[in-house]
Amino acid sequence: MTEDEFKRYLEAGRIARTVKGHVLGLVRPGAGVLEVAEMIESLIRSMGGEPAFPVNISIGSVAAHYTPGVGDKGLFPERGLAKIDFGVHIDGYIVDTAITIDLGGGFERILSASREALERAIKRVAPGVSFRDIGVIVDETARRYSLKPIRNLSGHRIDRYKIHAGESIPNYPERLVPWKFREGGVYAIEPFITDGAGLVSEERLATIYSVKRSKMKGSGLEERILREAISRFKGLPFCARWLSDLGADVATALERLAGQGVLNRYPVLTEITGGQVAQFEDTVVIYQGTVYVLTSSPP
Ligand code: CO
Repeated sequence: MTEDEFKRYLEAGRIARTVKGHVLGLVRPGAGVLEVAEMIESLIRSMGGEPAFPVNISIGSVAAHYTPGVGDKGLFPERGLAKIDFGVHIDGYIVDTAITIDLGGGFERILSASREALERAIKRVAPGVSFRDIGVIVDETARRYSLKPIRNLSGHRIDRYKIHAGESIPNYPERLVPWKFREGGVYAIEPFITDGAGLVSEERLATIYSVKRSKMKGSGLEERILREAISRFKGLPFCARWLSDLGADVATALERLAGQGVLNRYPVLTEITGGQVAQFEDTVVIYQGTVYVLTSSPP
């Protein structure tokens, strides 16, 4: 990693920390999820960053991948765990971070377990350490609280314009994990903890997409969407809200494009037994032998 790249990561991290400082003030029972998502995204832009993916607002047993649709009328409920997961990038140098808010109280244990799991996991990060160690720590922490990690959600290595660079950081003691933390690597660590069974499944609904194929046979709106998505998001995930200037039918067109195999779709992920889910996430970088937690403590 060059010094210039490192500086962009630091800057993306600074923006993410500032935005995170505002999130607590925005999220409360009765607030609109669309308004909160848009406020977070415009805060990121006003500070000179770009959202690396649509802000995910996942409530209760929804664990991940929900972003509000165009004109979404959803409100934060009186009770439940609200996960706010967002990314910031500068020229494709991405940081990814999440916090959980206990809207009406009563789920402090799940919240503490996931916060503590993240803190302990980050302390273990060093060049040469196996990703497996993170899974062991997260699982141990969850069990100490009589809770479970979500086994089919994981952290991930980050690359330029790639949120998931193909290496997963498990949240349970997976046996065969080939990867290790390395000098110059950027990693998102994100324990998901639940009082449910510890698994998520895909809902029918998807609100987030990314480009899979850059060529298609097609007409009008769909072709324009693909062209705009490629030039605006450069392979990063996006949503209907971010293309709503192209017409009123974007959401339906996105589903058609996914059906044709042109787009990837990321269905909403929900805990299979309806357990509450908490998630804390930070991005770390290993630069010249030192681990920097980009999205929480100022390096
Ligand atoms: Co992540």
